[in-house]
Amino acid sequence: MPRHLSPEEAEELKPGSDNYRAYVGPPRRFGLLTLSQMSLLAALGLEESDYVLDFGCGSLRLGRSLIPFLREGRYFGVDPNLWLIDDGFKYETGEDLKTLKSPQFSGSDAFDCTVFDREFDFIMAQSIITHAGADNTRKLIESAGRAMRRDGILMLSYLKGEAGTPLPEEPWTYPFNVPYPESWLQQTCTDAGLIWHELDWHHAGATWAAVVRDERRLPLDDHKLGYRGVAAPRWRAG
Ligand SMILES: C[S@@+](CC[C@H](N)C(=O)[O-])C[C@H]1O[C@@H](n2cnc3c(N)ncnc32)[C@H](O)[C@@H]1O
Repeated sequence: MPRHLSPEEAEELKPGSDNYRAYVGPPRRFGLLTLSQMSLLAALGLEESDYVLDFGCGSLRLGRSLIPFLREGRYFGVDPNLWLIDDGFKYETGEDLKTLKSPQFSGSDAFDCTVFDREFDFIMAQSIITHAGADNTRKLIESAGRAMRRDGILMLSYLKGEAGTPLPEEPWTYPFNVPYPESWLQQTCTDAGLIWHELDWHHAGATWAAVVRDERRLPLDDHKLGYRGVAAPRWRAG
């Protein structure tokens, strides 16, 4: 299969196919997931001077909008499948964006948010723990806590399992989805000194949650944000 197809041709592919739009999920949702992530970041108070880690950034489904928005040197992406990043630049943004905004990338597969040795205002992990085993999910949450500013926030999508759902053991299950008991996610955050907060924000196939170090960073009345088109009042550490 040729790696590059038109967006229309790619829509016919199965999720996980060897194409930059299909590899990262159902290709018909490629545009929706760009907007869903960007609008959630906007609602949570994103500013162009923020430092953002796009964990499992894939083919720049978020990056194609976020990198141009942020100031130079503010976007960081982690993904072991570096071909996805290459194709994102090649077919979505153009290579000039690399020179213009100096985004940085790591091919680490260690579920480690500290690889850039810096703190972030936002960490996005869209469609990551929906495919990760419990050990890797714990590593992601714990390292996000260390890589987050005191007023930082981690956003992740997850599949809510029934109480008693067994924890996924396989390290990486993509393209198959794995549910988690919410109580385990909450407890994992608590153990890492973090706070778990389910978000009332639309996701086509999962549920959004925010994880913070300080409860003052939690969105207030988040279910109203999308309707009013305003960003949440954003607490900032002094
Ligand atoms: C379902 S895709 C989601 C991609 C992106 N977050 C988005 O919303 O378009 C899952 C991504 O996780 C990446 N991935 C796989 N193993 C990983 C690891 N150990 N660390 C970080 N990302 C990983 C895959 O290459 C793929 O890009």
